[in-house]
Amino acid sequence: MTETAHRSISREQAAIEQALTEELVASFAHAEDRRLRQLMGALTRHLHAFIREVRLTEHEWNTAIAFLTEAGQITDDRRQEYILLSDVLGASMQTIAVNNEAVYGASSATEATVFGPFFTEDAPEIPIGGDIAGGAHGQPCWVEGTVTDTEGNPVPGARIEVWEADDEGFYDVQYSDGRVAGRARLASDAQGRYAFWGLTPTPYPIPHDGPVGRMLAATGRSPVRAAHLHFMVTAPKLRTLVTHIFVKDDPQIAIGDSVFGVKDSLIKEFHTQAAGAPTPDGRRLEGDWSRTRFDIVLAPADA
Ligand code: BEZ
Ligand code: FE
Repeated sequence: MTETAHRSISREQAAIEQALTEELVASFAHAEDRRLRQLMGALTRHLHAFIREVRLTEHEWNTAIAFLTEAGQITDDRRQEYILLSDVLGASMQTIAVNNEAVYGASSATEATVFGPFFTEDAPEIPIGGDIAGGAHGQPCWVEGTVTDTEGNPVPGARIEVWEADDEGFYDVQYSDGRVAGRARLASDAQGRYAFWGLTPTPYPIPHDGPVGRMLAATGRSPVRAAHLHFMVTAPKLRTLVTHIFVKDDPQIAIGDSVFGVKDSLIKEFHTQAAGAPTPDGRRLEGDWSRTRFDIVLAPADA
């Protein structure tokens, strides 16, 4: 903390600052949209409180504006620096927490976690038991499970979208050759079951060659994410689930996830299978592979 931050201010100065905050909050009082009025009022109050608490210098505010400007300049349709910023500040996870209250029934709804910037709409459709790799390198991994509701009823026809990085730590969209790999969509069967071949997830850093990466370095934080596989699951009348599964033996879980996405309930055993071990679908594999199970429970849409 700097000396300035400790400085106490006079009652007159505090009154001037408080009056400005109140004037700003009042300036939104006539917004027709009540929610917008609430959001802008609270944003202003918290922003002013922050500025006053740290006694923000003009140089620091200009640095913040330059940071946000650079975040905008590096953002395009393949790179989204503001999502990274939201993620590393825990704003994404806090918004997810507020919007995905725990639901308990015969079974608890699967917990949600961060969406990340690498989902695309154009993933290929695969049948149950299909392969999402599409040429992405990595150790094959058989993933299977069920989709049920919180009363334990199977959810047939749930739309399951999955995406993951290759073993170099890159998503397809991070390559400039337009490849589509390491992602697919499939539907659960009449009993709510699903299965696919993916890749055993490995830890990788979030993109850290921009302003967010500089901020992490300056604050002594790592950009590395715990190894994970993304899921988005949608079904009529049920709450859309955006989540990942994490690899139990990944040491990065104890070290920490750069976007605070790990939840104990999402850590799964990935069992390594020796080369030659029979596969669930008779596929012949040259090397080691792994298998895991992820049973998905969807909350009611109105929970
Ligand atoms: C990811 O999971 O891929 C991710 C999440 C947040 C920020 C960057 C990447
Ligand atoms: Fe990811």
